Amino acid sequence: MCDKKKFYITTPIYYPSAKLHIGNTYTTVAADALARFKRLAGYDVFFLTGTDEHGQKIQRLAEEKGVAPKEYVDEIVAGIRELWDLMNIKYDKFIRTTDKYHVKAVQDIFKKLYDQGDIYKSSYEGLYCTPCESFWTETQLVDGKCPDCGRPVEKAKEEAYFFKMSKYADRLIEHIENNPDFIQPESRKNEMVNNFLKPGLQDLCVSRTSFNWGIPVEFDKEHVVYVWIDALSNYITALGYGSENLDLYNKYWPADVHLIGKDILRFHTIYWPIMLMALDIELPKQVFGHGWLLVDGGKMSKSKGNVVDPVILADHFGVDAIRYYLLREIPFGADGLFTNETFIKKINADLANDLGNLVSRTVAMVEKYFNGVIQAPTAKEDIDNEFIELALNTPKLVEKSIDELKIPEALSHIWNLISRSNKYIDETTPWILAKDESKQERLGTVLYNLVEALRFTSVLVSSFLPDTAEKINAQINVDLTTWDSLASFDGTQAGSKVKKGEVIFPRIDVEAKIAEFEALKEAQEKENKKPVMEPLKEEITIDDFDKIDLRVVKVLECEAVPKAKKLLKLKVELGEETRQVISGIAQHYKPEELVGKNVVLVANLKPVKLRGELSQGMILAVSNDDDSKLFTVDVPAELLTGSQVR
Ligand code: MSP
Repeated sequence: MCDKKKFYITTPIYYPSAKLHIGNTYTTVAADALARFKRLAGYDVFFLTGTDEHGQKIQRLAEEKGVAPKEYVDEIVAGIRELWDLMNIKYDKFIRTTDKYHVKAVQDIFKKLYDQGDIYKSSYEGLYCTPCESFWTETQLVDGKCPDCGRPVEKAKEEAYFFKMSKYADRLIEHIENNPDFIQPESRKNEMVNNFLKPGLQDLCVSRTSFNWGIPVEFDKEHVVYVWIDALSNYITALGYGSENLDLYNKYWPADVHLIGKDILRFHTIYWPIMLMALDIELPKQVFGHGWLLVDGGKMSKSKGNVVDPVILADHFGVDAIRYYLLREIPFGADGLFTNETFIKKINADLANDLGNLVSRTVAMVEKYFNGVIQAPTAKEDIDNEFIELALNTPKLVEKSIDELKIPEALSHIWNLISRSNKYIDETTPWILAKDESKQERLGTVLYNLVEALRFTSVLVSSFLPDTAEKINAQINVDLTTWDSLASFDGTQAGSKVKKGEVIFPRIDVEAKIAEFEALKEAQEKENKKPVMEPLKEEITIDDFDKIDLRVVKVLECEAVPKAKKLLKLKVELGEETRQVISGIAQHYKPEELVGKNVVLVANLKPVKLRGELSQGMILAVSNDDDSKLFTVDVPAELLTGSQVR
């Protein structure tokens, strides 16, 4: 029996939060391409992905929706799995951190680390937002306030368990230095060592008591395991670590590659290896931190005028177009850019023009000149040699690039062969050969070479664009699609018949499509603008309401309050009286827009001073609950000032 080499690749487990955009599908698409490639190259592959389902945020979102956290995540996780199916991701296992076996294994890991003294109990101090029940660090705050709700935070303390990270720092530095491939790309390795490891590691907080949607610490039920021990362990628990059946674990661990985004590199190259050292487990062979897909130079979270929903994009352009763009555009270790325009142009240039045309031209010529029958290559000429050599060399180049995880480079080698094939058509001019009775054998040979080069192309692209490979195979009608078959340029069977099919990548009208997308985007924005209604306040009696004295007033004068961005100073007429009111509507109205308006004043509100100016009452105004544009509550001009609003 021949023992296949194993290849264990993982993606991060995804948070079941809001909808995934094409940016965050990248890690999984890239891991899928690598896994498919290794399978093709004969490896015994295990490809793991999954979801990271615990934590305060999920607990809060579930509460807001009025459902149990598990019920909440179940629905989202089903959606994520559907998306992976749509993107043609062929994983071997999907782990959920709510899976029973994972929960138990994490509890055992926590206990083991505690028993051996690597985890100890102390207290966690941080900046706490009471309404959100969240701790934040100084750097996470936005304008000194809670990044989630914008309210002030205060210093607070909570009992927690900590992991003694520093104990293992020297061993980890040594490991990183002795294993240059452990952290890739190189530049990220330096960042980890110089910015985090060398200055000294702080102990890591690994439990919480302020929420309970997490794995309970078995021996101290007030605590739940906090994030990273739970999440990172998935890479071994998925293989059965901590269970009775260690077959997969023994076969596949250590991981060959943990593929992750650069944002979570620190957790994977510092916390995770230290956890493994403490558990006396071999470290993964490599952690690769890829760059991000950015929109207009910024993070993709807000889509800024571009449609970034993978389901919509797949619907318009097909899944392989998305896969191609992602895999080709995110350079080794650096960030890639996304706009609908660059995306569509790339599809037109590389997929419709280069690849699509090559397939349709080749198949059309075999049909036209030989009734679709592929001829034997009996009339070789010198000019064929370089082309054939390039084809034979391409698999090696692609394999080398993939071994170095340089996916765009691998694709560029394949596209080199595609361009060379197109050039070969121009060089050999089959349409001229066709006119000459004596050149029929040569014509047959040229077309054979083109079909065979397409067979190479189809095998080579199959890991990256699986549907496209199938479509090419169906048209050239060859079934020899193994990696080994690329060792010689003769896998196409003379005598078999090509079958013209649909155009594999129709050309897209860039301007029309962008206009269509802009309209779509506008419609989406409108849809999103539907106000989220604030919950109604407590019931009051008519007597309570009667205490509020609302009156019609006319704005006589209005000016900005110096050094106060939000405030306007108004002089209003209230019957015989004139009052001064300070109103926080400067960002919505210019002073002159208000003069002459009849608005509503809360007239019996206790006067206050705002920025040193007296405010005798409050002008009523309204906006959608998302705090968009604000409007004063206007009343018709014919109403006399001082009239009561009831
Ligand atoms: N749950 C953690 C990982 C725990 S692993 C033990 C997490 N999840 S995530 O859902 O936020 O991110 C999943 C992956 O998507 C990460 O690799 C992240 O880097 C990647 N991306 C998110 N946005 C991205 C882009 N715009 N571009 C490319 N990848 C990006 O982190």
